[in-house]
Amino acid sequence: MRLRPAPTSDEENKTTNDETNINRRRFMRYGFNAAGGVLAVSLGALGFASILLPPSGSSGGDAAVKFWAKGREEEAWYGPMHLQSMTKSVFVDAAKNSNIGMSGAQGVWNGLPVVVNYVPHAENSNSPIADNSPRFQEMAGYDIGGNYVGHATEFMLNYPEIFSPSNNLVMAFARCTHLCCIPGWQLVSNSFTDDNWTPGGGDDGGSKMFCICHSSRFDPTAIEVNRNANRSTGESFEYLGIRRAGGPAPVGLPIIPIIMNGDTIEASTEYMGWLTYCD
Ligand code: FES
Repeated sequence: MRLRPAPTSDEENKTTNDETNINRRRFMRYGFNAAGGVLAVSLGALGFASILLPPSGSSGGDAAVKFWAKGREEEAWYGPMHLQSMTKSVFVDAAKNSNIGMSGAQGVWNGLPVVVNYVPHAENSNSPIADNSPRFQEMAGYDIGGNYVGHATEFMLNYPEIFSPSNNLVMAFARCTHLCCIPGWQLVSNSFTDDNWTPGGGDDGGSKMFCICHSSRFDPTAIEVNRNANRSTGESFEYLGIRRAGGPAPVGLPIIPIIMNGDTIEASTEYMGWLTYCD
């Protein structure tokens, strides 16, 4: 797989001072690059509220998650499948090219950017935790202020439909909780996107979703409870998500519940309220 080098200039790696003053031109450029296509531009123009349409409702949408490789058709392993429905079996096959048995891909679901990861949880969860033996980890989560919100294990007991580790799949909403760029999966090459894994949800090791705008990192194997706010209403909400491992993003990214339809990866519209923080 050919990965782009990560941004290295001071401007592109800046994570402090003016991170809240990023101008619209830079945002659009970074967002466009991160998505590899027009998706971010469209979202910036339309806003999320206008495209949060239930796929199985009267809009006639499609519940299936599609690969999104626009601009990367030649370099991404799923490039030839751009806009085709995702299936679990293609992730299993792609994971055979990984040192640690993981695979991931950018996607679009219901007009929203997502990243789907395959993690060999069922195969590894009964063996001792060790580097490069990835599995899902249920962890405690904290809000922006560092206050304890809840534990993933308890949350999943109450809402088992949201996430099942035994599925070996996780889908995260790909809008950064910092300034709403689109974090990617192995879109760039650096230590955070290397094909390796360390336990604990820390900021070491690779296999992170990486946001190129200001280098936020998210661990798709670390499942936790977070709290964020709806920017339209100011109302705060709690959600099951993947962990923010590092960078200026304050909290992790929401999980979108996967529904398997045979081998096809579809998703639930039950938790749309979790996805509105960029509105
Ligand atoms: S938008 Fe700033 S790190 Fe993602």
